[in-house]
Amino acid sequence: MSRPGGYSLASYGRMIDCEPRMGVYAEALRRAVTPGCTVIDLGASFGAFALLACQYGAGQVIAIEPDPSIELLVPLARANGCEDRITIIRDISANYTPEVKADVIVSDCRGTVPLFQHHIATLADARARLLAPGGTLLPMRDTLKIALAQSPEKYRAMVHPWQRNAYGLDLAAGARFAANAMDKAYLKPRALVSAPVDLAVLDYRTITEPDIDSRVTMVAGRAGRVDGILAWFEAEIAEGLGYSNAPGEPPLVYGQMFLPLEGNPRLAEGERIDLRFRGTLVDGEYVWNWDWQVFDRAGSPRGRVARQSTFLAQVHSTKALGNASNQHVPQLDAAIMLDRDCLALVGEGRTLDVIAKTLQDRHPEHLPTYKAALDHVVKCLGRYRS
Ligand SMILES: C[S@@+](CC[C@H](N)C(=O)[O-])C[C@H]1O[C@@H](n2cnc3c(N)ncnc32)[C@H](O)[C@@H]1O
Repeated sequence: MSRPGGYSLASYGRMIDCEPRMGVYAEALRRAVTPGCTVIDLGASFGAFALLACQYGAGQVIAIEPDPSIELLVPLARANGCEDRITIIRDISANYTPEVKADVIVSDCRGTVPLFQHHIATLADARARLLAPGGTLLPMRDTLKIALAQSPEKYRAMVHPWQRNAYGLDLAAGARFAANAMDKAYLKPRALVSAPVDLAVLDYRTITEPDIDSRVTMVAGRAGRVDGILAWFEAEIAEGLGYSNAPGEPPLVYGQMFLPLEGNPRLAEGERIDLRFRGTLVDGEYVWNWDWQVFDRAGSPRGRVARQSTFLAQVHSTKALGNASNQHVPQLDAAIMLDRDCLALVGEGRTLDVIAKTLQDRHPEHLPTYKAALDHVVKCLGRYRS
């Protein structure tokens, strides 16, 4: 499983300030923690949930996080008087084998929506291997919602640069990519053209499959253009305790997911869009496919099925595609030779100092200084550490 990440300390800070998210998690944790129990803070960042679990009486807390922000938990645990109860695991949860299973596992590894990177597999694995029988998973369940949305600003920002410009340039070839790109949004209720419908229920107590494939119908509640579809989620952290990033709710760190509808169709009130929505996890990231068709009030199709996908938003490098062909014969270039020698020296059990000096000796044109050689070795080995 690839390593999650990409958060800055500032963004972790914003998560703590994000209400009602934080308050709901804190209350769910307070209710779930029993005196002396074991809690896992999965995806802890600097361990705010771990510290709270201690405050609420946990006997032992395991904070699991591969991001370096976890180092902050050392002084924080000391400052909060709970360093003797917190164990830090600097890794992803899949690589952790517990001595004792946890009574409570708390996590928030969602992105804009809960289908994000390896979130589902991570929770399914944690439930199976790290949670004691009858233990509590926080969150308990998320419901993915979707609606037709009108946002001329978002649509224009996405497609306009490729349609028109003041310089007489034909940029139309870029339009297809832009029209298939997902964007983060913070839309208000007035942007919704249809009532929200449920796309998927993700029950973390049972879920195993990361992909979704749903068909829904959305009826226009008023006439107007439909610029895209908007997805968000309703979180149930525990029974009766939840929050949502729906339009109209306080804006949360997640934002909402906006997917444009190519050609932004104009719908009359009562006309509908039938949608097939798929989320497929490919190499650690979701590819979103949305196939849709407009139907008039009599139920007759207006136009053909439009097929959109975030896959079509990616501009692929022809060089990279060629390099991935099974007929490609890779050349032993300088970068490969450096890595080959570096890894061979690792295999001989040398210190970084010896490896760097040997590499500098052998490849002075690429590693002119000891520092350059040492940096290269550290970077090369970093690619093999999860
Ligand atoms: C959205 S942040 C949440 C941070 C903090 N728990 C909170 O809710 O404020 C998610 C964190 O989960 C971590 N993460 C994702 N998958 C993980 C895994 N399998 N094991 C451990 N940490 C993981 C990421 O590195 C990231 O720091």
